[in-house]
Amino acid sequence: METVVNVLGIETSCDETAAAVVRNGTEVLSSIISSQIELHRKYGGVVPEIASRAHIEKIYPIVEQAIKQSGLDSNSIDAVAVANQPGLTVALIVGITAAKTLALVWQKPLIAINHIHAHLQSAMMETKDLQLPAVALVVSGGHTSLYECKSVLELELLGSTIDDAAGEAFDKVASILNLPYPGGPSIENAAKGGNPAAIDFPRTMLAKNSLDFSFSGLKTAVLYYCQGQDMKGQNRVDRMSQKEVADIAASFQAAVVDVLVKKTERACDKVDAKTILLGGGVAANTLLRSELEKMAQRTDRKLLVAPKKYCTDNAMMVASLGWYKYKAGLFADMALEAKAGCYD
Ligand code: KG4
Ligand code: ZN
Repeated sequence: METVVNVLGIETSCDETAAAVVRNGTEVLSSIISSQIELHRKYGGVVPEIASRAHIEKIYPIVEQAIKQSGLDSNSIDAVAVANQPGLTVALIVGITAAKTLALVWQKPLIAINHIHAHLQSAMMETKDLQLPAVALVVSGGHTSLYECKSVLELELLGSTIDDAAGEAFDKVASILNLPYPGGPSIENAAKGGNPAAIDFPRTMLAKNSLDFSFSGLKTAVLYYCQGQDMKGQNRVDRMSQKEVADIAASFQAAVVDVLVKKTERACDKVDAKTILLGGGVAANTLLRSELEKMAQRTDRKLLVAPKKYCTDNAMMVASLGWYKYKAGLFADMALEAKAGCYD
């Protein structure tokens, strides 16, 4: 019989305070998320100091709720996993301090989790038979990265964005179009009534074999479309019809998805991937999911996508990956620090 391992996961890397208890990597006993979207909305993006303060207020109530809802008591928690990179340092610190404190008080191991790698956990947790190698695409507000996945714990970076992340481009274009933050869902909604072929926005593919991404040219193209070349015209957005905004949103979304799908196919061919994994906030996008599915079917590969509720930031993915690190004996110590970038 398999030993039972209950991992408490903690996530505070950006604007969600989250805690979850997951048994043996896949059985979600609880997953609590407190979103700060309302606090940041009026600024059009995440303000680090506001995020940090809100995490401090919420972290212990959220952890308490996650444990309560799991039906366990703290004695049954076997390890505490926490996202320590990448993210906003002032936000990560809150989760790390809480995790260290709990690990120390409970005398349980502490596990450090890479938030980007954890996003992929949401995509692979429901499958019993993960065919490797896989190519993993993580598309979030801060990152757009392609990995070769040799095992759950072995991810090799194949390419990433050289400027804006895909989610960031959605957020910035939404702001250009006066659509509410976060931009991804707003653009997706606005695009529903639009024609994706209305405007031929650029698809930046970089060098012939490049697996890196660049979305800043596309964002600028939308900006100039709305405010004139080099922003020398008038901002037309206020005077645009709903249909014109919808056309811009749909054409922009189609361009992002086009590039993401083509680059993923390139990566799959390079490593001869059997499986494609998709995770991160932008993975909630319906067009991206369906276009990747079409590509996977055409190229005879299996696509595994995170369920929508686990695409955006959550602690389930942290606790789930924590179990693999627990089994491998990969523990952190009390010197664990927050890292803004993605290091390991
Ligand atoms: O993974 P996530 O919650 O946070 C980071 O780790 O960054 O991703 C948030 C990003 C935001 O940029 C948001 O606009 C985008 O994911 N997003 C979407 C959708 N839902 C969220 N982008 C496109 N379509 C969506 N439906
Ligand atoms: Zn994320």
